[in-house]
Amino acid sequence: MNPETAVRERYAAGAKAAEAKLCCPVEYEPEYLKVVPQEVIDRDYGCGNPSRYLRAGETVLDLGSGSGKICFVAAQVVGPEGRAIGIDLTDEMLEVARRNAPIVAERIGYRNVEFRKGRIQDLALDLEKLDSELKARPITDVASFLRADELAQDLRVKHPLVATASVDVVVSNCVLNLVEQKSKRQLFEEIFRVLKKGGRAVISDIVSDEEVPEHLQNDPELWSGCISGALTEEGFLQAFSDAGFYGIQILERDQKPWQSVEGIEFRSVTVEAFKGKQGPCFERNQAVIYRGPFREVLDDDNHRMERGVRYAVCDKTYNLYRKAPYREFFEFIEPLQEIAITDAAPFDCSRTSRRHPKETKGQDYTLTTKPSSCCDGGGC
Ligand SMILES: C[S@@+](CC[C@H](N)C(=O)[O-])C[C@H]1O[C@@H](n2cnc3c(N)ncnc32)[C@H](O)[C@@H]1O
Repeated sequence: MNPETAVRERYAAGAKAAEAKLCCPVEYEPEYLKVVPQEVIDRDYGCGNPSRYLRAGETVLDLGSGSGKICFVAAQVVGPEGRAIGIDLTDEMLEVARRNAPIVAERIGYRNVEFRKGRIQDLALDLEKLDSELKARPITDVASFLRADELAQDLRVKHPLVATASVDVVVSNCVLNLVEQKSKRQLFEEIFRVLKKGGRAVISDIVSDEEVPEHLQNDPELWSGCISGALTEEGFLQAFSDAGFYGIQILERDQKPWQSVEGIEFRSVTVEAFKGKQGPCFERNQAVIYRGPFREVLDDDNHRMERGVRYAVCDKTYNLYRKAPYREFFEFIEPLQEIAITDAAPFDCSRTSRRHPKETKGQDYTLTTKPSSCCDGGGC
């Protein structure tokens, strides 16, 4: 059986009746659950809680939203200024989520959640739009099959299910492992595409401590059960890096495996990754000092920095370091004479070089001052 068919059939059944085997118990903030109908809570097949990392006003995209629980929690965390969009491919799951959305909206006093039908590895293709077009012009032969392919491509461009750079945070709870191996790379690229520059992904998923062997990958029951398609812990983080993310970190990692199969441990992790390191590099004479505690660090642009040393960085890197997740690890040094971005020369980011304090202050800087006022009162 095709893995995607196995997944769709399993979760179609899981939408109608709760299946305990698909559950990996997770703690959610009870205050947010009060408004979520019991039917939705009973069909929770998540393994983490990425909604814990959301903020007010954000636009959130939930990949594989199932019965909608993460979206309904996210709706409350982001508040009326924010919104949550759930994507799922299983009609039965979408039906449960959509039927419960007005109930949650009435209870919280605003409507900021919607559910769309799509495959998370192809977030541009609106499957409901494609469905209605194909009903009007069904596939009957090779020519109409090829036309359908063209039509799908046309829809991706003209009416994308999720537009490029339209989302602040992509979340997902126990779904990425269900996507076929051959589409995994495209999946991470799609997450990257839909995020705004400066946006982030917060993904909870099942990972394995060893590669999953082929005979386990070919088992449809294990596929739909979040086992066969799991990436390794290392491979999961690498996939974000390969797609162009930076600042990737493990926010949570279950010590205890959720399940072991033939000695391979499968456990839940929650990973965060940021979009925004791409772009031109300009010299504005800024410098940073890595505060420690490690002797040296290497960032996602290959800047290697020793603890306590003053390094030259481009304006882009300087501004990235001033935000999460780097902020707390660096000291920031502005030049005495500011260089306007419009006057800044290109900066060669392929090397990491030290910045002499004279570059920060200017070669002619010879100021001598009295002790600053912090010592007044005889404290020093
Ligand atoms: C393990 S459940 C998790 C559901 C939900 N995130 C939760 O926390 O309860 C997986 C969900 O992802 C959906 N799904 C699986 N593969 C998908 C794909 N390629 N594209 C879209 N949805 C998918 C399934 O239909 C199902 O609703």
